[in-house]
Amino acid sequence: MAKGFALLGVILLVCAALAGCGGSKQEVLRVGTEATFPPFETTDENDNIVGFDIDLIKKIAEYNEWELEIVHMDFHVLIEELSTDKIDIVIAAMTIDEERAEKVLFSEPYFDAYQCLVVREDEDRDITVDNIAEQGLIIAVQMGTTGSFAAEDIYGNADHPNIKQLKRANEAFMELKSNRADVVIIDKPVAENYIRHLGGMKILGQPFTNEQYGIAVKKGNTELMDKINSALAKMKDNGDYDAIFKKWFGE
Ligand code: ARG
Repeated sequence: MAKGFALLGVILLVCAALAGCGGSKQEVLRVGTEATFPPFETTDENDNIVGFDIDLIKKIAEYNEWELEIVHMDFHVLIEELSTDKIDIVIAAMTIDEERAEKVLFSEPYFDAYQCLVVREDEDRDITVDNIAEQGLIIAVQMGTTGSFAAEDIYGNADHPNIKQLKRANEAFMELKSNRADVVIIDKPVAENYIRHLGGMKILGQPFTNEQYGIAVKKGNTELMDKINSALAKMKDNGDYDAIFKKWFGE
């Protein structure tokens, strides 16, 4: 008899561990991002990954009662990691483009952005997207980003010696500040953030692309995407999106 109760106890414990006891099923979704892209994703003094995107996905998770695990990885592997199920969701200020959309499923756009040119503050050459190649200027970009695609357009191929492909966005600015590059091509809100924090740099001319960020899931995972899109629609409606926007961008 006592043995029977003990066995029952073990079974109950196992069930509790598996099901979370209360029956409310808490899914843990792994979210991949690359956290050198403030204010969308960056790390705070305690090494927590924080930012606009992180608050956004946390709010989406809250509506859906998901638990999240945020994972930092190189930007250029995010899509691959999604396809091989190492992560469930990507939120990384990722621009929705045709080539990527062949490999992943994108949400409705959640942010508008542009590429821009960043140079050292004392730069006095006349630099535009159209004359970078003829001046033979060195461009620093983050690998796999639309900034690197723009550099590729300028020089005809991604491996051109005048293009420095860096794994981290901050490394591109370091190249510029230390004179190892003449220009950084990057998303404008991120350029503004780095300039504010690092100083000694300025944005040149006008933004020269039109981009929209989307949240990505594995191709075919429409069930998960529907939940993400409904949550996005809800938060744009009820003020939650605006609150997060204000927190990271001010008014
Ligand atoms: N919007 C650009 C792109 O999609 C840059 C994104 C980089 N994001 C990041 N978390 N490092 O290519």
